[in-house]
Amino acid sequence: MAPPRKRKPNPRRPPCDNKRMRTFDESGTVPANPWRFCVAPMMDVTDAHCRYFLRLLSRRARLYTEMITTGAILHGDAQRLLRFDALEHPVALQLGGNDPEALARSAELGARLGYDEIDLNCGCPSNRVQEGCFGVRLMLEPRRVAQCVRAMRAAAGVPVTVKCRIGVDETEHYEFLRGFVETVADAGSTCFIVHARKAWLSGLSPKENREIPPLRYERVYRLKQDFPQLTIVLNGGVRTLAECERHLREVDGVMLGREAYENPYLLSQVDARLFGETHAAPSRSDVLTRLRPYVERELSAGARLRHIARHLLGLYRGQPGARAFRRMLSERAHAPDADWAVIEQALTLAENAAAAHA
Ligand SMILES: Cc1cc2nc3c(=O)[nH]c(=O)nc-3n(C[C@H](O)[C@H](O)[C@H](O)COP(=O)(O)O)c2cc1C
Repeated sequence: MAPPRKRKPNPRRPPCDNKRMRTFDESGTVPANPWRFCVAPMMDVTDAHCRYFLRLLSRRARLYTEMITTGAILHGDAQRLLRFDALEHPVALQLGGNDPEALARSAELGARLGYDEIDLNCGCPSNRVQEGCFGVRLMLEPRRVAQCVRAMRAAAGVPVTVKCRIGVDETEHYEFLRGFVETVADAGSTCFIVHARKAWLSGLSPKENREIPPLRYERVYRLKQDFPQLTIVLNGGVRTLAECERHLREVDGVMLGREAYENPYLLSQVDARLFGETHAAPSRSDVLTRLRPYVERELSAGARLRHIARHLLGLYRGQPGARAFRRMLSERAHAPDADWAVIEQALTLAENAAAAHA
């Protein structure tokens, strides 16, 4: 009998080497690939308070700052804008800009302050960003992005990543995305975070640009097949850890934005399910108890409770006490003298509702 014919390898489909990254080591954990689960940069959302809170839910999730422009860093109060707590690691600074020198100076400062990664925003379609010709507009200028990445890498000494879309306006064929990644990877970026929808530069608001263009995950999968040596992180519309697990069969990492914010308790399962960690998931009340010293420290340094409490609103989502918890925080955290007691009361309401329901 003739020996079975060996299947010819498909040159378009190099073997995906992220199996290694999925393999749990002897301790049962996944040591490699720090991008396996990320929380997206979100303006007016992922500030330092938000990130501190999220870190109490997951030790392994990679956190991103809001986009901070080079103008704000170089001509504003950089120390205040870039401030973060040591507990937040691993944490990445996302920059907005298009000038290699300004990006290099900002990246250098970010790295000096201890950020683990500098990410360049090539995905945001807001008018402000478009007027400044950065964000997603940069996808139309891959050579400029390559110059920026080169300058940032030389200055920063930490990984420089790029967050982009799959296309812009009519330019949405796969070869465009492939060309962009190839050019920028040549400049030394080894990790790309890809929001799996294109952006329309005019006619859609930023919110619509996160909802209307269809998600095309297969484009991101194909990128991983074409560039197996790069770390490819998929973003857009991911809502559950089961979906994360499915995507992780095709790519190296997933990044969640809205779901991580609206339903933060999802993060409490990330370490066990995606990284094989064995520590117990914190309960909701554990998280708040551990947040208390931070809240008290920040309030005594001049922060307002509402700036912290707004990030907690979704913690009990789907639980019996969710509404009472939210209402207490929304109504009472605004008072100028509001302090920890408001969170304590919200917690008591939520836990009592859970106990009554049990
Ligand atoms: C309120 C908000 C603000 C955002 N700000 C940024 C930003 O500063 N930088 C960025 O690259 N993307 C930003 N995004 C896009 C997210 O990072 C992410 O790509 C998008 O929400 C899709 O992921 P999701 O479907 O998991 O939310 C923002 C999204 C939201 C909802």
